[in-house]
Amino acid sequence: MNKKKIIVAISGASGAIYAKLLLQKLQLLSDQIEQVGVVMSDNAKQIWKDELDDTSFEGFQFDFYHKMDFNAPFASGSAKYDTMVVIPCSMGTVARIAHGISNDLVTRAADVILKERRKLILVTRDTPVSLIHLRNMATVTEANGIICPATPSFYSKPQNIEELALTVVDRVVDLIGLDHTTYRWNE
Ligand SMILES: Cc1cc2nc3c(=O)[nH]c(=O)nc-3n(C[C@H](O)[C@H](O)[C@H](O)COP(=O)(O)O)c2cc1C
Repeated sequence: MNKKKIIVAISGASGAIYAKLLLQKLQLLSDQIEQVGVVMSDNAKQIWKDELDDTSFEGFQFDFYHKMDFNAPFASGSAKYDTMVVIPCSMGTVARIAHGISNDLVTRAADVILKERRKLILVTRDTPVSLIHLRNMATVTEANGIICPATPSFYSKPQNIEELALTVVDRVVDLIGLDHTTYRWNE
């Protein structure tokens, strides 16, 4: 089995819980993963603190990179990271990715993933959406990116906020292509 090299970018949309749960899940699935690189925007750090009342992003044993660090391996296609997830993904970040504005590590890494024809998953979060948002999401889709809105499901009867948020995160883990245990309809 080829182990995955994954970039997790955390942008300044509401929904830091999604990022936290994904990082926790990647820790649990470490036998299927070669490397995880993490990059956060400044707003992402602030929103994580505000929404989760902690700075637990500092405790994950992954490779963290500053958002302006273009020396990060995944700023170049040669490093061969196969998957990038932006979770949660703000509409500003969608717009910059859709238009190739690679002015920080998040958007440069996404640019690289798309040009190398690898897997880009944007867990978008805003509602309602404007025509500009929809057009930017369409542009990313046309460039082979996957828009995976942070839209929880209810059919597994989640009992708390974490279980509800996991309904989104588990779909992301499926999209990355990792084997894991999750609720599956009628199984
Ligand atoms: C508390 C808070 C919540 C926000 N939530 C969202 C959101 O859900 N979606 C969104 O697109 N922008 C949201 N924003 C605005 C973005 O943080 C802002 O547009 C920022 O410039 C995005 O840049 P970044 O993606 O590089 O973090 C929020 C801002 C704050 C302060």
